[in-house]
Amino acid sequence: MSLLENINKDKLPEHIAIIMDGNGRWAKLKGNKRIFGHKNGVAGVKNSSEACAELGVKYLTLYAFSTENWNRPKLEVNALMELLVSTIHSETKTLIKNDIKLNAIGQISELPEKAQRELQDAINATSNCKRLTLTLALSYSSKVEILNAVKRIATEVKLNKLDVNDISDNLFSSYLNTYNLPDPDLMIRTSGEQRISNFLLWQLAYSELYFTETLWPDFSKEDLYKAIITYQSRERRFGKTSEQILK
Ligand code: IPE
Ligand code: IPE
Ligand code: MG
Repeated sequence: MSLLENINKDKLPEHIAIIMDGNGRWAKLKGNKRIFGHKNGVAGVKNSSEACAELGVKYLTLYAFSTENWNRPKLEVNALMELLVSTIHSETKTLIKNDIKLNAIGQISELPEKAQRELQDAINATSNCKRLTLTLALSYSSKVEILNAVKRIATEVKLNKLDVNDISDNLFSSYLNTYNLPDPDLMIRTSGEQRISNFLLWQLAYSELYFTETLWPDFSKEDLYKAIITYQSRERRFGKTSEQILK
């Protein structure tokens, strides 16, 4: 049986989040510069988003650039920003064809203006797409996202617009960049690293975590199928006992 046939379509994760890692090492293994790895990383983005759209996964969130990544050499940062602009530009038509809606989280105003414009154009052009919501985390820091939510909530409490007793899990979530997304069911990180690197700290509270040695430019549809099959073999207990879940 093929991997695809092993996927239970009734138990799909609704939201998959991916830390796309290993582009630099992939390029080095090929005797090339880091940016060559980033360019080839676009294949992983296409494979994972197409596979999600085909399967019926409703949300895919990709960690593309962290606030910490601004500390990389200027040459690499500039090349990444240029790659973002050219990829969005060339892929918007395919997104529309595949009925994929583009979304972005993070400190978007920190991106070069050209990248902001290109991103906004693609978001507008795909706003009516329905099959999959593809969210790019750009200049993203989960700690900054949480602190910004805390500041807005504190201000509203101070102005008597919000009662302290109304600050709940749901209310807090509604102040995050991800207010319109369900929490991820499955979080994948490629390249063998096993850490969260400031990604969706609040939203990953009960996600299943999956780590693979595959480097991001090599990430294929089959790699995504494997992650989903592993996810489907897990028992999500949310604090309850196994007996309660199986009842
Ligand atoms: C992930 O690959 C892409 C970004 C973080 C922008 P890396 O560039 O981190 O690749 P490695 O981890 O150095 O191999
Ligand atoms: C995390 O990858 C950020 C993205 C994938 C965009 P890094 O490669 O920057 O993470 P660390 O620094 O190794 O944790
Ligand atoms: Mg890395």
